[in-house]
Amino acid sequence: MLALFLLVRGGGEEARAGQVAAVAADGGYAGAGGAASGPQPVTEIDRTFLVKVRQAGLWEIPAGRLAQTNGQSEAVKRAGLHLLDGHSKLDQLVREDARILGVDIPNEATEEQKGFVRQLEAARGAEFDRIFANILRSSHGKIFATIGEVRAATQNDLIRRHARVANETVLDHMEVLEDTGLVEARTFAEVEAAVTPPS
Ligand SMILES: [Fe+2]
Repeated sequence: MLALFLLVRGGGEEARAGQVAAVAADGGYAGAGGAASGPQPVTEIDRTFLVKVRQAGLWEIPAGRLAQTNGQSEAVKRAGLHLLDGHSKLDQLVREDARILGVDIPNEATEEQKGFVRQLEAARGAEFDRIFANILRSSHGKIFATIGEVRAATQNDLIRRHARVANETVLDHMEVLEDTGLVEARTFAEVEAAVTPPS
């Protein structure tokens, strides 16, 4: 009885698959997974994500430059070069994707981020290295969690692609910052407190 049911059900699915294939051949469906063509939803979370990616570039590119002039260790200078390179590419992508999706993105970093840049401008040598590694590792840890949330729930293909590239960039930046050996335990604790949802 069960076998018969499965057989009938299986046959029904084949028939539906045939219908979908016919529609696809007709141009009615586009993209992977049978997603309908036409504009895809861009949620407030998707918009905020693009804004955050744009603003990350607006302060991390200056921070990466400052590492070359004010930094002391080779590992900090190397991390700075990764920030420069990663955000130059990501910034190009975010401006492109924001234009396609009709999302307004800012031309200025947040007040907090501008404050970070001022702190870095005022520091030199070992003090610069310590501030650089900890402030940047903290902000990367927080946005890493945001990217996971966005990628998990977005319905927009372009945002999915954007999240993939941003994820790779942020992961690379976390690693080069950790490679400096200067990230303190309290920085990880601060990130943990910021990304853990209240229970
Ligand atoms: Fe970064």
